[in-house]
Amino acid sequence: MKEITLQTNIKVCTIDELSAQDREIVEAARKATANSYAVYSGFNVGAAVRLSDGTIVSGTNQENAAYPSGLCAERTTIFWANSQYPDKAVEVLAIPARTSQGELERPISPCGACRQVILETEKRFNTPIRIILYGTKECYVVEDGVRALLPLSFDADFLE
Ligand code: THU
Repeated sequence: MKEITLQTNIKVCTIDELSAQDREIVEAARKATANSYAVYSGFNVGAAVRLSDGTIVSGTNQENAAYPSGLCAERTTIFWANSQYPDKAVEVLAIPARTSQGELERPISPCGACRQVILETEKRFNTPIRIILYGTKECYVVEDGVRALLPLSFDADFLE
């Protein structure tokens, strides 16, 4: 049987090794975690996006007593950014998280539904999104877009 090997390239670094621009968006996302509404999980997630004109938009997870009605930080942020700036491509996304113990040491990983929304945003603006997953000990940088995190993904091409 034939086999297909899919490769994912992720850069590992500390926050100090990021460019000043990337540190700025990570800091915006870290600051945003203070506004997270995570009364059920206690897991405070922030997200920040940089748009094509340099605008930075941040957001957080918003939970609900009816659990599935809540929304992750990534989708809250992307949907808000796209609602406010429908003509500006999302170019970079940063994601940190913290609990009552403090910030996560290892990079947080976005859930499948968020990856799918990131993919839709890339397709919408025809721009791959650089994704920075923040941890205090190390960060992961996915340079070439979310497909690296979502192999064999479903997108609008299938609907044609
Ligand atoms: N959450 C996010 O906001 N982003 C992620 O990437 C993973 C999970 C939220 C959803 C829920 O409010 C809490 O974290 C625990 O799952």
